[in-house]
Amino acid sequence: MTKWTPSSWRSKPAKHIPEDYPDLQHLADIEKTLKGYPPLVFAGEARRLKKRLGEVALGNSFLLQGGDCAESFKEFHPDNLRDMFRVMMQMAVVLTYGAGQPIVKVGRIAGQFGKPRSSPTETRDGVTLPSYRGDNINAMPFTPEDRTPDPERLLKAYGQSAATLNLLRAFSTGGYANLRNIHKWTLGFVGGSEQTEKYKKLCNKIADALDFMEACGVTPESTPQMASTEYYTSHEGLLLGYEEAMTRIDSTTGRWYDTSAHMLWIGNRTRQLDHAHVEFLRGVENPIAMKISDNLENDELLRLLDVLNPSNEPGRMTLISRFGHDKVAKGLPRLARTIKSEGRHVVWSCDPMHGNTLKTDSGYKTRPFDNILSEVKSFMQVLHSEDCWPGGVHFEMTGQNVTECLGGARAVREEDLSSRYHTHCDPRLNANQALELAFLISEELGSYRKKEAARLAG
Ligand code: PEP
Ligand code: CO
Repeated sequence: MTKWTPSSWRSKPAKHIPEDYPDLQHLADIEKTLKGYPPLVFAGEARRLKKRLGEVALGNSFLLQGGDCAESFKEFHPDNLRDMFRVMMQMAVVLTYGAGQPIVKVGRIAGQFGKPRSSPTETRDGVTLPSYRGDNINAMPFTPEDRTPDPERLLKAYGQSAATLNLLRAFSTGGYANLRNIHKWTLGFVGGSEQTEKYKKLCNKIADALDFMEACGVTPESTPQMASTEYYTSHEGLLLGYEEAMTRIDSTTGRWYDTSAHMLWIGNRTRQLDHAHVEFLRGVENPIAMKISDNLENDELLRLLDVLNPSNEPGRMTLISRFGHDKVAKGLPRLARTIKSEGRHVVWSCDPMHGNTLKTDSGYKTRPFDNILSEVKSFMQVLHSEDCWPGGVHFEMTGQNVTECLGGARAVREEDLSSRYHTHCDPRLNANQALELAFLISEELGSYRKKEAARLAG
């Protein structure tokens, strides 16, 4: 294998990285500026996340990863960040209760801007322009000026990521995430829904348990884990010029870390073995993930793991399965068997969003909630029957009451989609749908836990 450097990806073929910047020197200057900016995360934090994910790989914890398909400059607002954080915390409470295990929380946030697109161009009424590629590259309106890539946007994305991360750190350690606040997390939530009521009941049970523990002397003051939470950031490692600029040597270990996020993933369209994205991510020490689907052959998966995780370190590699609800039961078993029989340590996570996207007659991209749920269930069943731990889920979601995915207990109907459809890319679960899904997964995890306990009891 050739020597890795933060720029060695530049000599490899790269997909989904824009080349149509009008002024490449301007782009290079911006990347140089970014190289001098402070890291967004510390290597020690990325190492701790890897350790946490190592526990997931071994079946002792569960990963909850979620957030926007694409963050945007327009929707950047502290209330939106708080709502997103709050839903994830609620989901984590529900899952902790069902799984009886720690939940590792990772946002698709503070850097999730650039998008791979199915076509590099878009045509409307006979006019063809570059596709929208995410707010760190170009802008959504269909005009030549907006769609032209602008390197200055990278600086704005860095600034937004830094401010987002700052607020997330405050939320997770500044008191908001204190377990004693679980009731308060429902404030402002769409009231009266079945999920909110269920959540409130669960909170009452937890509050009772906390009272009991407090009587025994275990309080948020004596046990800091109860007063704060660990919250990590992630995004697709797509725009490699930006990632390279954020990659620094950690002074403690002398190893390279991409300091733009704790965790980076390789998308389904950029995981070619001899291409730039695999080359870049093989060299950084962060925990990484890779999206996988039915076009991935068994030995290709093994070769990718040889390159991306040569020492088979638990926690380094998460495989995010995104087959589609009707394909997962057929496609996933062979990959699970391959991993199992080769003794590879991976976190198995399920993205039930990207294989279940469809377009309605009225032109909206959407995802039926039932199909999302059905993919998660099949994923869990397949992995259990292959004796592997279904270790996590990966969602596109928001804390807002949007109408982007169809269905759920408070059903979003096709005619509702137009009322609050705000996504900058793919349709997201709204707060109620996200919580509903957490309850359903929690029940699945709970029932497996009981079966496992029964099996061990013989
Ligand atoms: C995404 O996660 O937004 C995405 C583009 O997914 P995938 O690479 O699985 O298509
Ligand atoms: Co998406």
